[in-house]
Amino acid sequence: MEMTVRAATSDDVDLLAKVAANDGYPWKRVLTPEYFLSRMSKRERFFILDWNLYTVGGRVNTIGYISLTNVITKEPSNIMFLDSEEVANFPKASKIHYLSVDESYQEQGFGKQLVEHMLEQARLKRKKYLYVFTPQKNRNAIGFYLHLDFLIQGTYPNKYGPQDHGILLSKAI
Ligand SMILES: CC(C)(COP(=O)(O)OP(=O)(O)OC[C@H]1O[C@@H](n2cnc3c(N)ncnc32)[C@H](O)[C@@H]1OP(=O)(O)O)[C@@H](O)C(=O)NCCC(=O)NCCS
Repeated sequence: MEMTVRAATSDDVDLLAKVAANDGYPWKRVLTPEYFLSRMSKRERFFILDWNLYTVGGRVNTIGYISLTNVITKEPSNIMFLDSEEVANFPKASKIHYLSVDESYQEQGFGKQLVEHMLEQARLKRKKYLYVFTPQKNRNAIGFYLHLDFLIQGTYPNKYGPQDHGILLSKAI
């Protein structure tokens, strides 16, 4: 069984939208191919985890994807940080924007593999932190990141809508 993580291109936006629709989390925003295209044009880098069922000319199943933004502009000041040192370190950080594993492939180590790929990418860029926002109500994702030794750094009130707060987690690289 061969797994590969590869950089996504604009040719992959349909695949990204398909995985997003099948990851089991009820994203409010519709993650359409056009949306992914617009994120790519803003220099967000997407990586896809493929499962090559056959090594020669075979079928390829897309398991999941992750995206990384390196350009850290100032995050809104109403984030309630537990550690103000973390704010000072933002320029040295990379941010996971999206992470999604097709529901039928979850709980098999693929999400972890994608995060490890991101850690490697950030390391190559000499970043010191990897951070991510996730909805407070997404207990599954929070549990997942905590299990991967991310630490909760603070809350971003109403990030995703009224009473829909964001939780900031980060991991030192
Ligand atoms: C969150 C998500 C990416 C996890 O992917 P996954 O492939 O199922 O996770 P993995 O199988 O790689 O899990 C890696 C480790 O975390 C653990 N883990 C996973 N979910 C966990 C949870 N909710 N609580 C505690 N530990 C958890 C696993 O047991 C595994 O542990 P191990 O390495 O010791 O065996 C996936 O559930 C998903 O796509 N959810 C919907 C989209 C989403 O919420 N994205 C994140 C928003 S930023």
